[in-house]
Amino acid sequence: MQRISTTHLVKMKARAEKIVMITAYDYPTACLVDQAGVDVVLVGDSLGMVVLGYETTLPVTLEDMIHHTRAVVRGVRRALVAVDLPFLTYQTGPVDALRNAGRLLQEGAAAVKLEGGAEICPQIQALVSAGIPVIGHLGLTPQSIHVFGGYKLQGRDEESARRLLADAQAVEQAGAFSIVLECIPEDVAARITAGLSIPTVGIGAGVHCDGQVLVVHDMLGIAGKVKPRFVKQYAQLGDTIRGAVEEYAHEVREGKFPGPEHSFVSDEVAAPSFSSSKKT
Ligand code: KIV
Repeated sequence: MQRISTTHLVKMKARAEKIVMITAYDYPTACLVDQAGVDVVLVGDSLGMVVLGYETTLPVTLEDMIHHTRAVVRGVRRALVAVDLPFLTYQTGPVDALRNAGRLLQEGAAAVKLEGGAEICPQIQALVSAGIPVIGHLGLTPQSIHVFGGYKLQGRDEESARRLLADAQAVEQAGAFSIVLECIPEDVAARITAGLSIPTVGIGAGVHCDGQVLVVHDMLGIAGKVKPRFVKQYAQLGDTIRGAVEEYAHEVREGKFPGPEHSFVSDEVAAPSFSSSKKT
């Protein structure tokens, strides 16, 4: 099975083939999304919110990202694994960016993602020069949530749309091979997508991007918090999980679980087999 490469993703744009990206943070989810045939598995710093229970992505550390990257890398055979550089691991300059991104590649990441425009281009150039593929991230960049004053649509007026386009072109020039566009009007995303030769991957940025990304907990219905408008829930696993655990609790309390088919009998009757759920 051939691994998806960064060059393959760039060629997909030229062939007008849509790129499918999704987040994963653990081994079983990584196995499932890879088996489902996605192109890119993103170990997003959104794990701070959907896995660790923080209010924002800001408390996420490089150690958190390394821990989850190791688990995801073990589960992915085909997709490209990209990993977010968390807050304060690259804003401080190219040397920090290189050291921290290098750690993620040593753990099996094939690319890193950084938030920001022209201001982080020196970091992108340093990474790409060192052989580290980079995905940019523009629009509603969650690590700047306190500057935006909340999770709000970006690029609404002509001036900020033009700024986004200029930033996207600067990020491409600096050497990024793709850019995530988050929570911007679809017409602005279309202009940016048309103005770049590298692919854009949208989240809340409309259908004209070269690909789409969703947070896996959001689309499976297990995020537990308010669902942003741009999320489509493809399953309601939260309800399924809650229902299954309620049924388990009920059966334990009623003495219905474990039944004979989940129990063993003593040696006098038969030798127990711990590898089977069948009664021995
Ligand atoms: O952290 C993340 O999951 C992301 C995606 C929403 C693009 O950056």
